[in-house]
Order: sequence, then C-alpha cells, then structure tokens
Amino acid sequence: MNVYDGQRISAMLEKHGMTQTEDVKDADLIILNTCAVRAKATDKVYSALGRIRRAKKESALLGIVGCVARESGGDAFKRIPELNFVLGPQSYHKLPEIIKNPDTKLLNIDMSGLEKFDELPQITKSPTVAYIPIQEGCNHCCTYCIVPYTRGRELSRPFDDVVRDTINAAKTGAIEICFLGQNVNGYKYTDKNGKLYRLSDLIKSAAELPEIHRIRFTSSYPTEMTDDLIEMFKQEPKLLPFLNMPIQSGSPRILKKMNRPNDIGAYKDIVQKLKLARPDIQISSDFIVGFPDETDEDFAETLRIAREIKYINSYSFKYSPRPHTAAALMSNQISEQIKSVRLQQLDSLLNENQREFNISCIDREMICLCEGPDKTGRNLIFRTPYMQQCIVEKPNTEIQPLQKIKITDANKASLRGEIIK
Ligand code: 5AD
Ligand code: SF4
Repeated sequence: MNVYDGQRISAMLEKHGMTQTEDVKDADLIILNTCAVRAKATDKVYSALGRIRRAKKESALLGIVGCVARESGGDAFKRIPELNFVLGPQSYHKLPEIIKNPDTKLLNIDMSGLEKFDELPQITKSPTVAYIPIQEGCNHCCTYCIVPYTRGRELSRPFDDVVRDTINAAKTGAIEICFLGQNVNGYKYTDKNGKLYRLSDLIKSAAELPEIHRIRFTSSYPTEMTDDLIEMFKQEPKLLPFLNMPIQSGSPRILKKMNRPNDIGAYKDIVQKLKLARPDIQISSDFIVGFPDETDEDFAETLRIAREIKYINSYSFKYSPRPHTAAALMSNQISEQIKSVRLQQLDSLLNENQREFNISCIDREMICLCEGPDKTGRNLIFRTPYMQQCIVEKPNTEIQPLQKIKITDANKASLRGEIIK
C-alpha cells in the first residue's frame, strides 16, 4: 500500500513541477511516507526525521504522511518542531496546499473517506506490476493491530473506478495487477442499482484485458475466502497460484485473544478447498510470536501449523504493543528474550519450508515476470508465479518482460534459471 501511495504522491508532485532528488541536501520538499504497524517502524521514522532535520536545507519543507502521522497527530510537531506537515493516510492529496502556503503548519488526519483517489492524478506510465488499491481500512479489530485506528473502517472503492484504474494500468504498461487492501477479500461495493460487486468480479474484469497476464491480491482474511473467490483459482489461469492468507498463530486460545477466527479446522478446510480449485497453489502467512500470555504449548501449535500447511514466502514478527490497541493493555506480556527465541525457531522452520519448495522447483518450467537487472548488471531478476526470485544470466538479445524459464538451481533465498527460447 505504501509503495502505491508513494507512486501517487510522486505523480502528484511532478504535476506541480517538482522532480525527484536522491540527495536530502538538494531537496525543497521532504516527505516520509510512514508505517506504524510495529513500534520499530515508528521509531525508525523519528530517528530518520532527526537525521534529516540536520541535513536538509533550511528552507526545505519537511513532513510525514501515512500511518505514523495519524498515530502521532499534533504531537509530531512537538517532537520535531521543524515539521511543516503531518498528513494521515487518507489526506495526502492535501500536499499541494503546503506547497502553496509554506509558512503554515498543516495537520490533517481525518478519516472521512476515499476522496484522495479522485483528487490524485492518474499514472501515465505504469510499472509492469501495477498495485491497485480496492479498499482501505479494516473492520476486524484484531486486538494487536493499529490499522483500524490509522486507516479507519473498511471502505471499498466503486467498482467502475477500480476497473478504470485497471484498464489505465494495462494501457500504460502493466502486465501484472496486484489488488490491494488491508482486508482485500472483504471488498464489497453496491452500485446504485443495488448490484453487489466482490473481489471475484474485479478479477474477472482484469482477466479480460489482453495486456494483463498475471493477477494477484493481498492481504486476505481467512474467513472471507468466499466460494466465488476460491472458484477464481479454478477458472482464471491468470490468477497466480499463490495466496497470502495470514493465520498469525496456530493456537486457538491465542487466536481468541487476538480476536481472530480461531477454528483451525475451518482454516484447514479453506486451504483444502483452494487446493481442490488449484492443485498447485501455495499459501503464505504472517505470524506473530510472543502475543501476551502465549505459552510454550501455544507456540508449539504455531510451529505445528506452519509445518503442516508448508507455508512459503511468509513473514514472522515479534509481537509489538501498539497504542490504541486492546492487546497492549493485556496482562502476561512476554519478555523480549522469549520473543526472540520463538521468532528464531519459527523463522528457521519457515526458511526450511521455503528451501524445500524452492528445491522442488528445479527442472520445472515457469512463465516468469522480469523485474529488471540485479546490482551487478550481469543478471536479470524474475518473479515466478509463486513470487520467488529467479536469477537469470542477462542475454545479449532484447527480451520480453514475460519469459518461459527453466529452473536450474535453488537455495533458500532464490532460484536460478535459464530462458527457454
Ligand atoms: N506486532 C507485531 N506484528 C504485527 N502485525 C500487525 N500488528 C502487529 C503488532 N502489533 C503484523 C501481522 C500483520 C502484518 C501486516 O503485521 O502479522 O499480518
Ligand atoms: Fe489488522 Fe489485518 Fe486484523 Fe485488520 S485483519 S485488524 S488489518 S491484522
């Protein structure tokens, strides 16, 4: 979501005659687009602001946008007096105001709606992977999560607007569409005739575009994997055989405290249905270790489910208490030391799953999407349909962004392959 927001902010500022610079000392306007999901991310913002305020030109405008802006509100000005603006995730379309009135301090952390999508310019050149937000906010209120506070209640964008953005992305260079939302499969839009549109309708409409070859979406809430959406994995070959469907913990007791769906059997049934629809599907998850009151037995259940589902491409985090959340006030908070040990154990299991899956791909042929050259410039980096990184020696001839690649080698982090002519 932040990558997308960053692209839209750049496009908007370019319309106001600005260009990007890599050097803080040259900048007239410095924006930190921020994430507040864990304390570490917020801390990083403030340490970066400390560095930037000393390095920047005196006249340069400095501000934060996104979730830390919403989390901190007016306090941000107290912590960093040099700040000129603090704009929440729904208000960055107000940036031109600060350019016009550089002497005022601008604070806007309203959660009123999704007007930003209407007021931002359309992208005129799309990257090969176009991120398209379809909904923002979340109604689930997991007890550890700051997102319902920073991004607000769920709001789905009008179906026609998303279709227009998808067509625009396709016409301006996109090959892959990634539909985005904090609760992406909760997408529900009813038009004025009372017709309800779901994520499956958006997938169908993107799949009709000849320019679009790959479709994915993130991040999904397990119990909102409705049958129409699961059916898409059967019907739509353009939908990649890879799904991020976070479980967070394998312990029903902890899931209950997290206010997450805690029927592990029902979760496994969804995985089973997905496999029936697309036998080669792979699932990824996010995990939180060290949630308040998590015992060794609870954690063992997390290891068990990770082993059983054989998740690939997963993320694991130490629980981080966040303001405005219920879990931050719960008793039996877990020590950093125990969190670190559990994280390491889970990570090594997830890495092993990934390594096994990567090795199972050797000798397979896959259509992969080129991301561009690696740091050495000698190789090209591709993404497989499972979002693995695949490194290929750069050929002398021009290549198309989509290539059939034979996987020749693999380790835990990536694959190696050869382009098949
Ligand atoms: N502490 C640790 N991880 C968190 N996440 C969300 N809130 C927290 C928190 N307070 C993780 C969840 C979510 C991912 C985006 O971030 O795993 O799926
Ligand atoms: Fe946060 Fe995701 Fe839970 Fe919503 S579903 S509250 S975004 S973790």
